[in-house]
Amino acid sequence: MKVNIYYFSGTGNTFKVAETLKNELELLNSNVIIENLENHPDYTPCDTLVLAYPVWGFGAPKIVTDFVKNLPCDVIKVYFLKTSGEPLSLNDASSLSLIKVLKKKGYMVSGEYHYVMPYNMVFRHEDTLASKMLLTAKERLKTCAKEIRAGLITPISMPIKARFMNRLCSIEDLGMRLNGNLYSVNKNSCIGCNKCLKNCPTKNITFHSGKYHFGNNCMGCARCAFHCPTNAINTGILNFLKVNGPYDFTLKTDEVKLPNYCKKSYERYFKVEK
Ligand SMILES: Cc1cc2nc3c(=O)[nH]c(=O)nc-3n(C[C@H](O)[C@H](O)[C@H](O)COP(=O)(O)O)c2cc1C
Repeated sequence: MKVNIYYFSGTGNTFKVAETLKNELELLNSNVIIENLENHPDYTPCDTLVLAYPVWGFGAPKIVTDFVKNLPCDVIKVYFLKTSGEPLSLNDASSLSLIKVLKKKGYMVSGEYHYVMPYNMVFRHEDTLASKMLLTAKERLKTCAKEIRAGLITPISMPIKARFMNRLCSIEDLGMRLNGNLYSVNKNSCIGCNKCLKNCPTKNITFHSGKYHFGNNCMGCARCAFHCPTNAINTGILNFLKVNGPYDFTLKTDEVKLPNYCKKSYERYFKVEK
């Protein structure tokens, strides 16, 4: 069985999950190709397609929707693999626009796998919780791989309130582009490492006349601000939601403190046996 995984990952969470799925599928004797949508890969024919993305504003990033719009018509199975910072059911309709396009092209939308991973925007999770999130995802991805390998079809349930939020936030892409113009670099803390400039997925950051410039093409992926070693990037009107610095995923402890925000949904997420 040939499986193609196409993913986008702003700060690495979705990549970790997609790569784990690849490894699990290979253990089940599948032939797996994994491609980063940032590199604008060509679609190559396969038996099963997996689209992996982080939930943004209760929806999917435009780079994923654009990829789907350019896919040829086909009748193969498609699964979604998504990560989000919170387990709220409001995230449940994030694949809505992808599904509409895929169905029109003949694809069989066969299921969705949702993993809660640490926030790269909104607030910072504790490292112990971050590592529990990754361990939980890795454990559940074994079942995910078996189900995809078996071609299981599971309907995706999308509550009305989730659909509503998805539609309401559909202007996010435009909002992020506009807000991208408001990004700036704090000269006092910037060390000129150019990490932001080199890693921006849309090459939206340039340096000239002794200054960093942010163009009109920001996706809002948070990568520049998240990975800035000196927290020198101001992310416009979203600056108060900024999260800076990678998580330590190496800790292994059961003493995990759940955030007060959406506590019940986190409890439910970790309790579910899959
Ligand atoms: C622009 C933006 C919007 C986001 N919107 C949501 C959201 O609606 N719901 C949610 O649970 N998490 C949201 N998040 C958090 C990410 O989905 C989460 O941290 C994800 O695991 C990041 O994956 P990545 O590292 O592959 O980019 C958002 C993050 C960003 C940057």
